[in-house]
Amino acid sequence: MTHQQNYGNDRLAHYTFHNLLIFAKCWTNLKFKWIPPKIMAEKYFQKHPEQKTMIYTDPCSDARHKKMLSINVTCDYRLPNVIIVGPQKTGTSALLSFLKLHPNVTSNINVEKSFEELQFFGGFHYEKGFEWYKNKFITTKEHSIIIEKTANYFDNPVVPDLISSMLPETKIIILLMDPVDRAYSWFQHMKSHNDTIATTYSPEELFSMTPDHLDFEKTNRLRQRCLKPGYYAENIDRWLDYFPPSQLIFIDANSFRLNPAPILEDLAMTLELSPLFLNYAEHLKYNKEKGFYCALINGKIKCLGASKGRKYMPMPNSLRAILNSQFAPFNRSLYKLLKRYKYSIPEWLTNFIS
Ligand code: A3P
Repeated sequence: MTHQQNYGNDRLAHYTFHNLLIFAKCWTNLKFKWIPPKIMAEKYFQKHPEQKTMIYTDPCSDARHKKMLSINVTCDYRLPNVIIVGPQKTGTSALLSFLKLHPNVTSNINVEKSFEELQFFGGFHYEKGFEWYKNKFITTKEHSIIIEKTANYFDNPVVPDLISSMLPETKIIILLMDPVDRAYSWFQHMKSHNDTIATTYSPEELFSMTPDHLDFEKTNRLRQRCLKPGYYAENIDRWLDYFPPSQLIFIDANSFRLNPAPILEDLAMTLELSPLFLNYAEHLKYNKEKGFYCALINGKIKCLGASKGRKYMPMPNSLRAILNSQFAPFNRSLYKLLKRYKYSIPEWLTNFIS
């Protein structure tokens, strides 16, 4: 079986298909019946609802397809070879902006509303198709690394399949922050956006609420957004269904936040970036006021915006204890998974396990 585009261009396919049908009619008991394609499609998707999303591939990735493309289609574009998939609140923006200090690194142009993030795979832009995505990357031959960063790809169940179908060779970067800190950061993020639940309930109330509580249902969405992306092993398992372990790169997000330069240097080596710009310590400076490292560009400090590295009350120990116990089984699974695939273990996880 092949797809419609091939049939349209391949007369042998038509001949083969026709004769296959005659053969099946002659030599099997199968009864064939003609139904309009629309009804056929409805029946098919009733049976396979999980396949309803159209999956886009790169039309230039296959030499046979390339020969059949219309003369108006050119293959001189370039697509990302690195995707930072998240999760949200782990320092994904800082990682992207620091990597982009390297002259051989670029990323997509911004889109309205979601700014630096394309939110293409698994999002509403996906139906705009391959051309839409492709046109977001304007590169020069100096760019050896083209990055897309969308932090909610990590825990969206459909995304690994969609990315691997279009960009099977791309490297996937995942930042692993202590999920307790990540959950608290997301809570604070929603609070600063005046989310009704986050402004009504304290994090202690939210995370210790049991299903028999009257407000459990209405608060559950926020609780799940705080907790679920932090069930790292479950999410990573899904990525490993679609990508070989060698294509996944893990960053210890807690260490990156405290001292990004050595981590960037390691990563730049892994991505085979030119060593002419490997001394990241020269390009980053700790800013006391911000409380984070910022980029140093032409002698001027450039920190990330106010929504990255917010000022809020440090997490009380009582809350940390509640969250630690909720994440404990998931952290243990993560430890086993990282060990099994011989990835290095983030310092926060080693401390948690020991
Ligand atoms: P907080 O605002 O809760 O501190 P993301 O970019 O993935 O949304 O992550 C935002 C988080 O990045 C921030 O969460 C902050 O802790 C972390 N971060 C790490 N390095 C940073 C940096 N150099 N500047 C600002 N935020 C940084």
